[in-house]
Amino acid sequence: MNKDQLIKIARAIVAKGKGILAADESSGTIKRRFDAIGVESTENNRRDYREMLFRTTSAMKNQISGVILFDETIRQNAKDGKPLVQLISESGSLPGIKVDKGTKPLPFCPGEVITEGLDGLGERLDEYRKLGAVFAKWRAVIDIDNGIPSYTALNTNAHALARYAALCQEHDIVPIVEPEVLMDGGHDIDRCYAITEWVLKTVFSDLYYQRVMLEGMVLKPNMVISGKKAEKRAGPDEVADKTLRVLKNCVPPAVSGIAFLSGGQSDEEATVHLNLINQMGPLPWPVTFSYGRALQHEPQTVWAGKAENVAAAQRAFAHRARMNGLAAQGQWKHDLEKAA
Ligand code: 13P
Repeated sequence: MNKDQLIKIARAIVAKGKGILAADESSGTIKRRFDAIGVESTENNRRDYREMLFRTTSAMKNQISGVILFDETIRQNAKDGKPLVQLISESGSLPGIKVDKGTKPLPFCPGEVITEGLDGLGERLDEYRKLGAVFAKWRAVIDIDNGIPSYTALNTNAHALARYAALCQEHDIVPIVEPEVLMDGGHDIDRCYAITEWVLKTVFSDLYYQRVMLEGMVLKPNMVISGKKAEKRAGPDEVADKTLRVLKNCVPPAVSGIAFLSGGQSDEEATVHLNLINQMGPLPWPVTFSYGRALQHEPQTVWAGKAENVAAAQRAFAHRARMNGLAAQGQWKHDLEKAA
């Protein structure tokens, strides 16, 4: 393991005013997103769409420190034949790769899932590194409902995350550790706080037992937020306050950085929350974004699969990237949205 290199990459991922573009939608997820905009999910359409994002020079150079890719994309070439990974590197951003194999129902735990993909992961990491990846992502999914999460599901998922992280570091890849407590359902923000705290405490205990070097990883957590169907949803100040409180209680300052997932928040909500959290600094770690939907929703809608919309879609992506880059420094203002 090359410790210095891992730390250098982890720090670059959370560099000031920069964050991650999560473009690692699996085949099923990207098909759902394309269905919503009336685009057929073919290999070429997926390539054209993602190439459009990676060619948004201002965003890639100034705000996007790294891009999480799906297996198909890391092997794909742009229309002109240049590998997409090279396109990303040349823009000054770092290529990353989703290495989990998605979720399966967990035995004897109705309604709960386990993330798979540990078998053979070491060999896959070596291949991905040769293809240009310098960091990886693994997402564990924790749902809140009556009687869940269970001790079993929570501990099994945390253990898998920690095993993944250790394998990554052993293979000189920076692990993004993503335990996502879903915001589906009708639970209130305090239930989200309690479960997020339990998840993070367990994950960091397991990371310790798997001997993971905290300086060479990035945490990708959910924010502490009311369920989407909650009767009364907590406002932005409470979300920022409780999110920061749980993180300070659970995440050692040695961790290189924190990059939130957006998890179904609207584009602007995700920006507002990140901004407020950064305004509550000084913080023990850099706190930024690793957004999928909250960065892509607008450009995807504008693009709608039409070549003539590419420039407008790139402007939409550049705008959201800029807004989140400012939020990562606590410098976002609502007027900037209107101005655009
Ligand atoms: P969202 O920001 O859309 O939640 O996606 C982030 C991600 O990478 C989920 O694994």
